[in-house]
Order: sequence, then C-alpha cells, then structure tokens
Amino acid sequence: EKDKELIRGSWESLGKNKVSHGVVMFSRLFELEPALLNLFHYNTNCSPTQDCLSSPEFLDHVTKVMLVIDAAVSHLDDLHTLEDFLLNLGKKHQTVGVNTQSFAVVGESLLYMLQCSLGHGYTGPLRQAWLNMYTIVVAAMSRGWAK
Ligand code: HEM
Repeated sequence: EKDKELIRGSWESLGKNKVSHGVVMFSRLFELEPALLNLFHYNTNCSPTQDCLSSPEFLDHVTKVMLVIDAAVSHLDDLHTLEDFLLNLGKKHQTVGVNTQSFAVVGESLLYMLQCSLGHGYTGPLRQAWLNMYTIVVAAMSRGWAK
C-alpha cells in the first residue's frame, strides 16, 4: 500500500508531462545502449541521438511507452488485468528485435528520469516502489517475448 501511494503521488506530477519525461528516459537509454537506436526502422537517418529523439516517430514511441506506464500506475490494484496486453507487447518487441535484457536497461533509465525530475523526492523507498512495479510489467512482457 505504501508503494502504491509513493508511485501515485509521484506520477501525479510527472504524468502531466509524459512526453518530456519520456524523452529524458530515452535519452538515457540510448546513452546506455546506443545499438537500440538501430531497431527503430523509421529511416530518419538521424545523428546525433538527440536529433532522433525529436523526430515524430521517436516521440510517438516514447508516448506509447509512457502510456503503458500510465496504464500500470492506474492499475496498481489489479495489474493482472494488463497481462494479455503485456504478453502481446513483449511478443511484439521480440519481433522487432529487442531482447529482454534491454528491458532492464529501460528500467534503469526510468529510475534515472525519476531521479532527475523528483530531486529530493527520489528516496530509497520510492525507487524500490517503482522498481517493483516495473519488474512486474517487464516480467509479463518477457513471458510474452518467450512465447
Ligand atoms: C512498439 C522498440 C521498449 C511500448 C515498438 C516498435 C519498436 C520498439 C521498434 C515498433 C515500431 C513502433 O510502434 O513505433 C523498442 C525498444 C525498446 C522498447 C528498442 C527498448 C528496450 C518499450 C517499453 C514499452 C514499449 C519498455 C512499454 C512499457 C511499445 C508499444 C508499442 C511499441 C506500446 C506499440 C506496439 C504495437 O504496435 O502493438 N517498440 N521498444 N516499448 N513499443 Fe517499444
């Protein structure tokens, strides 16, 4: 219950600017794992990374990711209702060439974004609460990936 309060409380402000926070998250992701950029076949042919992140196609995916996180936050009491959706989403990422280890790097990038935007509000318990939720989401995606 404490976890849910921490997540909801922090998402209340972050969720208002999903795309800009998502861009911070994905900038970090591409910094940690630049090869992931190649999996987006948007043929925007962009470099440096920062240009990619401002292209409509990338912003579109960033938005999609943030909406999945938003859905998870809204369904903290019944995350299992997202199971089928997340299984399919994992499968989709298997077909586009994302491997499951990269999901963990997205998790790191998510925490990085939280730290940047929450400042002192980024506490140990808050970090753990987000990590717990993200782990559940990624576990379902990974099951779908392997199916
Ligand atoms: C679709 C890449 C992580 C949510 C896609 C597509 C690519 C992609 C290439 C297909 C093109 C598109 O729809 O834009 C990646 C990479 C990731 C990643 C490289 C980093 C590991 C995630 C995560 C989530 C997510 C963590 C959500 C938690 C989505 C959604 C779609 C999508 C909702 C659309 C699926 C559909 O069309 O049915 N992703 N993705 N992605 N991704 Fe990701």
